[in-house]
Amino acid sequence: MTIQLSGFATRAIHVGQEPDPLTGAVSVPIYPTSTYAQEEIGKHKGYEYARVSNPTRDRLETNLAALEGGVAAPVFGSGMAAINAVATMLKAGDHVVAGHNLYGGTPRLFNQVLANFGLTFTYVDTSDVDNVERAIQKNTRLVFLETPTNPLMELCDLRAICDLSHQRGIEVVVDNTFMSPYFQRPIEFGADMVVHSTTKFLNGHSDGLGGVVVCTKPEQAEKLAFLQKCAGAILSPFECWLILRGVKTLAVRMEQHDRNGRQVADYLSKHKKVRKVFYPGLSNHPQHELAKRQMSGFGSMIAFETGSLENANKMLRKVRVCSLAESLGGVETLISHPATMTHAGVGEEVRRKIGITDGMVRISVGIEDVDDILGDLDQALAAI
Ligand SMILES: Cc1ncc(COP(=O)(O)O)c(C=O)c1O
Repeated sequence: MTIQLSGFATRAIHVGQEPDPLTGAVSVPIYPTSTYAQEEIGKHKGYEYARVSNPTRDRLETNLAALEGGVAAPVFGSGMAAINAVATMLKAGDHVVAGHNLYGGTPRLFNQVLANFGLTFTYVDTSDVDNVERAIQKNTRLVFLETPTNPLMELCDLRAICDLSHQRGIEVVVDNTFMSPYFQRPIEFGADMVVHSTTKFLNGHSDGLGGVVVCTKPEQAEKLAFLQKCAGAILSPFECWLILRGVKTLAVRMEQHDRNGRQVADYLSKHKKVRKVFYPGLSNHPQHELAKRQMSGFGSMIAFETGSLENANKMLRKVRVCSLAESLGGVETLISHPATMTHAGVGEEVRRKIGITDGMVRISVGIEDVDDILGDLDQALAAI
């Protein structure tokens, strides 16, 4: 009888996570080896050297490709290493159109590192498809998107941007870190590659860094496998195993993140000290309808406006259940201050232009009991 793997949770638990053929172990073994013994010259079991391939890594790459609906999913040492790998598929003289409100580390990599190698970048508000169209040049090779964006929670219309880019022979790469493949699968809307910081929801437990590029074409997979071998920014077997373990509970975690996220967003939107809430699940979010079409949940990333740096600091000093920390997507609620943390590097002028204020606070709602999260926010906001 063929096993049915049609459901997302089933695939998360079983694809690439089959019992070990040698021992029957139901948890994928970790192979902490740098090299593999060979029987004779050129005769081996498919593994020669661990920068090139590792059985634990193979299992994770198979699993993540299945979850996003791609053909391969090479993993890297961090989300930034994955994004860097995508960019190094380009060559000097190529142009990239990117969202103006990406995770701060992405434009830092583009402007302060890759621009030195002859790549050029134009940043636009990708919530308006026309802006993307206007920014396209003769040498544009890639459109790089985040949806929802970090931290303003603006959405891009994936189908429309993919259609217009493909008509011009341009590939679209989507950073899907905020939603995870459980709530959004950009390949279904035409994306050519999907990247993740697996550090976030895919790992889910704030205990390891990692990144992945999910490919839709064998040529992309070949180029990236070659890059893993040449540049070596691969993910260690132990970190691969942490993600394999994390994704087994991705479906249930995301459901709980989403339930808690909706309640926290609703609470914040009614709070007198909170001036604005950015969350695609709220009916007053300008792209709420697009969110319902493109995502199957709203997730747990919320930004809100406290009015000033002083107000933000007053409340952030008081949180107890929420941890004041960078990062997101863990089981624990993390609360952060984009202007001085994730988006410090983009500079004050860019922050002002795109609307990241000093009073903005971002929360990654965890899966604790929601009343405890709400109680913590309540006592912290009382300090304003
Ligand atoms: C949306 C997004 N993409 C990429 C990254 C970079 O990932 P990493 O920290 O794993 O390098 C982050 C990190 O916060 C992120 O939030």
